[in-house]
Amino acid sequence: MTRTMSPETMAIVKSTAPAIQQHGVAITTRMYERLFVDPDIKALFDQSAQMSGEQPKRLAAAILAFAQNADKVDALKPAIARMAARHVERRIKPEHYPAVADALLPAIKDVLGDGVNEAVLAAWGEAYWFLADVLIGEEAVLYEERSLSPA
Ligand code: HEM
Repeated sequence: MTRTMSPETMAIVKSTAPAIQQHGVAITTRMYERLFVDPDIKALFDQSAQMSGEQPKRLAAAILAFAQNADKVDALKPAIARMAARHVERRIKPEHYPAVADALLPAIKDVLGDGVNEAVLAAWGEAYWFLADVLIGEEAVLYEERSLSPA
């Protein structure tokens, strides 16, 4: 794991948990709108899970759990293992992660508007890459175990 989260970042992320709880699905729905502008990224996703609203709900729940447990990431280990397994099934690669960051962070701003300032967005950016690195690491182990190349 190359990245860490500072105590300040953890505190800011935790303090946004109530806003994420209230607006999480709106944020992830907006995030997918932004993400699916790229047809190659869109093709990675099962569109029936999108249409039913299931996938935005799952991602919102994951983000909320992360916000609530930002200072005790061990509590998220089982959830992280499930996400990594699903990502490997869908052949998600490390190079897909920037597109999600570039969609998620503006979506937070789109939905929460004046409720977020630069410090909050910067904290979520740091938190995203912290979690992304954990997932990328777990996924690398799974690809290795299954002798599958992510390519
Ligand atoms: C920190 C970043 C990420 C988080 C927190 C996250 C979270 C999740 C969660 C919670 C699920 C649902 C797992 C389940 O089925 O229970 C999921 C599935 C999935 N994720 Fe991610 N993810 C992240 C990054 C990415 C990236 C970068 C991509 C590719 C662009 C991606 C593509 C997918 C796909 C294709 C699925 C399966 C959804 C389907 O059924 O079509 N994820 N992710």
